[in-house]
Amino acid sequence: MSEPTNPPAETPAATATPPKPAAPPKPAPPAKAAPKSTARRGVLLALFGSWFAVAWLAMTAAVGGMVLGTVRFLFPNVLSEPPSKFKVGLPDQFEDGKVVERFKDQNTWIVKYNGIIYALSTTCTHLGCTPNWLESAQKFKCPCHGSGFKITGVNFEGPAPRPLERWGLSVGEDGQLVVDKSKKFQKELGQWDSSESYVKV
Ligand code: FES
Repeated sequence: MSEPTNPPAETPAATATPPKPAAPPKPAPPAKAAPKSTARRGVLLALFGSWFAVAWLAMTAAVGGMVLGTVRFLFPNVLSEPPSKFKVGLPDQFEDGKVVERFKDQNTWIVKYNGIIYALSTTCTHLGCTPNWLESAQKFKCPCHGSGFKITGVNFEGPAPRPLERWGLSVGEDGQLVVDKSKKFQKELGQWDSSESYVKV
């Protein structure tokens, strides 16, 4: 007699349920908007940042200006002023009745007139403009308000209240005339009588 055989064991494959079809991928959830407080902080930061930058720039400029001012105070510019004394030539180089204008940039006219040479200031005694020498009219005429001065420097028309001033004039060791602008002579004060205000020729 043959022994009953055990029923064949079920294989796992036979018992497994068929695999479910893969679920379609879920769409990504929309990005959450930044919370309001974060956005506000961002705006504030940007604003504060820009204001801070402006304030920083302003402060840097102010400090820079102060430092520059201090440096300029400690090391002031050395003004290179023209010398107050300068030579204008030998007395016999000047012609009677002529006004020499080549020293006008040094605020000076050299004039030989009636046997003397003198150095006139080119500053109008009204408000400080520079008159022009008009050879044909034999007068200095101020373009600002019309004052007129004779060849001697004496005022005779317009608002100028007094004559032009003379600078000091002398003969140097080499025989040349030397103008000295540190000395000033005013006719209305009787100073044109001083021998330092002219050179006799
Ligand atoms: S400044 Fe020369 S007339 Fe006034």
